[in-house]
Amino acid sequence: MTLTNATVRRKKGHSPDIADPSAARPALLLAWYDRHRRVLPWRPQAGQRPDPYAVWLSEIMLQQTGVKTVGPYFEKFLARWPDVAALGRASLDDVLRMWAGLGYYSRARNLHACAVSVLRDHGGVFPDTEEGLRSLPGIGPYTAAAIAAIAFDRRTMPVDGNIERVVSRLFAVEEPLPQAKPVIQQFAATLLGASRAGDSAQALMDLGATICTPKKPICSLCPLNEGCAGRQRGDQESFPRKAPKKAGELRRGAAFVVTRGDELLLRSRPEKGLLGGMTEVPGSDWRAAQEDKAALEQAPQLGGVTRWHRKVGVVTHVFTHFPLELVVYTAHVPARARAPQGMRWVPIATLEGEALPNVMRKVIAHGMGA
Ligand code: ADE
Repeated sequence: MTLTNATVRRKKGHSPDIADPSAARPALLLAWYDRHRRVLPWRPQAGQRPDPYAVWLSEIMLQQTGVKTVGPYFEKFLARWPDVAALGRASLDDVLRMWAGLGYYSRARNLHACAVSVLRDHGGVFPDTEEGLRSLPGIGPYTAAAIAAIAFDRRTMPVDGNIERVVSRLFAVEEPLPQAKPVIQQFAATLLGASRAGDSAQALMDLGATICTPKKPICSLCPLNEGCAGRQRGDQESFPRKAPKKAGELRRGAAFVVTRGDELLLRSRPEKGLLGGMTEVPGSDWRAAQEDKAALEQAPQLGGVTRWHRKVGVVTHVFTHFPLELVVYTAHVPARARAPQGMRWVPIATLEGEALPNVMRKVIAHGMGA
């Protein structure tokens, strides 16, 4: 895709000296930002220089967390550790304790490691280029661009989800995400003026958060509405295009329906992970290209020789991330048979009260059916 701007129209008699109307966008955007920017704790007053430490701290916190949640954490951190040297001298335990509740704790570890590195290797001064910033722990391409633009006025455009949406609508980018990322990056860069790169980026973030919202964008208030290709087509809400989610690969496994008189052998799934803590019949692991023989080898050991009967057909179930196909084996064991470790006998009459997920209800129905 080439970066044409044929869709941008100019009002008659307006800025006749500007040959390419899209050239007006950076100024329109900044003028809008000067009037409508959100007041956020990490933003200095208009015209004041941002503190690179505050910019870095906010950008790390904002990596996976929204502005409302970040606000109080940012202020707490800044009050306790007012500069990078103070944070670099803090203990990791104290930093982790302060971070508690923000989630994604590797960010807190990297935050501390980064402060230590700035203090030890950079004399307590943040590098002022994207490349220099990227060499620090926890700073990837997006965060490096954001800090370089906001703190050091480097002419670069960090593209986050909000900016992706604004830009893909403005230029009606047909290519779906994530493949469209490079072209969106190129289009986004056309919205930078000669200076104030950080304000241009934050203007687009604010535009995306308040006007060019995912649903029902308020185009009438948008400073870029005249040249917006999405709006001209009338399907602005359909951008950005997204590639349909690939169905996960089919996984296969075996489930073992074992009865002892009128009782059924059950166990609980691990607390963490898929169907965490729920009840199931014993089974093999679920994996792509599972061989029936390998699955059968994972049958529960019930003492003595168990005669497994393979039910005709399979049970299928579709989870969000993958479809599953289970072969079901049944066995009846004598009244004195003990439950293997971690398993229990449960009266079939009380199964209703068990935390059985749908897939297991299907398995039991299949195993105990005619
Ligand atoms: N999200 C990430 N960085 C941000 C910033 N500087 N302002 C608002 N939202 C953001």
